[in-house]
Amino acid sequence: MAGVSDKIFRQLCKENGADVLTTEFVSAEGIFRRNERTREYLDFDEVERPIGVQLFGANAEHMAEAARQVVDWVRPDFIDLNFGCPVNKVVSKNGGSALLKDCPTLSSVAAAVVQAVAPLPVTAKIRIGWDADSINAVRVARILVEQGIAAITVHGRTRAQGYSGAADWIIIAEVAAAASVPVIGNGDLSDPAEVAKRRGETRIAGAMIGRAAMSAPWIFRQTKQYLANGQIMDAPDLTEKWDLILRHCQLAVEEWGVEEPAIRSLRARLMAYSKGFPGSKALREKFQHVSTLIDVSAIAQQHLQTAFESSAAIAA
Ligand SMILES: Cc1cc2nc3c(=O)[nH]c(=O)nc-3n(C[C@H](O)[C@H](O)[C@H](O)COP(=O)(O)O)c2cc1C
Repeated sequence: MAGVSDKIFRQLCKENGADVLTTEFVSAEGIFRRNERTREYLDFDEVERPIGVQLFGANAEHMAEAARQVVDWVRPDFIDLNFGCPVNKVVSKNGGSALLKDCPTLSSVAAAVVQAVAPLPVTAKIRIGWDADSINAVRVARILVEQGIAAITVHGRTRAQGYSGAADWIIIAEVAAAASVPVIGNGDLSDPAEVAKRRGETRIAGAMIGRAAMSAPWIFRQTKQYLANGQIMDAPDLTEKWDLILRHCQLAVEEWGVEEPAIRSLRARLMAYSKGFPGSKALREKFQHVSTLIDVSAIAQQHLQTAFESSAAIAA
């Protein structure tokens, strides 16, 4: 997830059970410019393997060359092609989900990248179609398989939906039944039972969890446990959650090398973490002003103290 799945967050997810990671999407054109930002997007540690680099772009030759350069440069375990991004800046240049309505170009991009990096696997992430009148995920999946794509993740929404409405798991099931490669289902998986239910109802080979991990990275561990033995593992307690949040902040400061911009960059992430916390509205307001580690740990201490006092009051 762009702006979310940076190296630090990916590693926290990995520690919490995520099996396969993908970088934030990277523009093929950005690879050629080799700018600093692109370098950051491509940066990962060995501990994150298996990891894929996700590329977007609409020009087959450029995508192939960019994929080759990425492989030379960082040696990922796979390249993932983004055919799902709904953002105007991307689709206006025919990238991301725009290629769902231009199957010849989608096909040529897939073929060119597969050929460029063989035998490294190339996977693809798609939406179910451009809009409700042009749902074509099964057809797109067939094209991708013909071009040698090794696995397909389907986000069960159209581009027109953005992130609203519900993910259409019927279409995901159709793709999983039709495709001869592993299909990973994605969209609205927010707890282990939901993943188990979708696995039971469809032939998906895997599940991709996005937004739910932003407030609960331990969802991966809980889900694996639930799939293994049907037991619901408790979420970490409030102290453990704050430990994880503070560690995320600490790691970000180390990574950035400068405290204030690092912490300011995490404000939205802190707000996501506090989803479901007691008093989360007040916490969100406080997070709008944090700029140091001390700011965040003071909020943590005060929050834990208040939670402790109110549970003591209830117990009495
Ligand atoms: C902030 C944000 C950034 C995202 N960036 C990407 C991206 O770079 N590449 C991608 O394939 N999907 C991206 N997505 C889409 C998610 O991967 C996922 O398909 C979508 O959120 C639905 O899954 P969920 O309901 O589990 O969140 C992004 C989603 C969000 C909310």
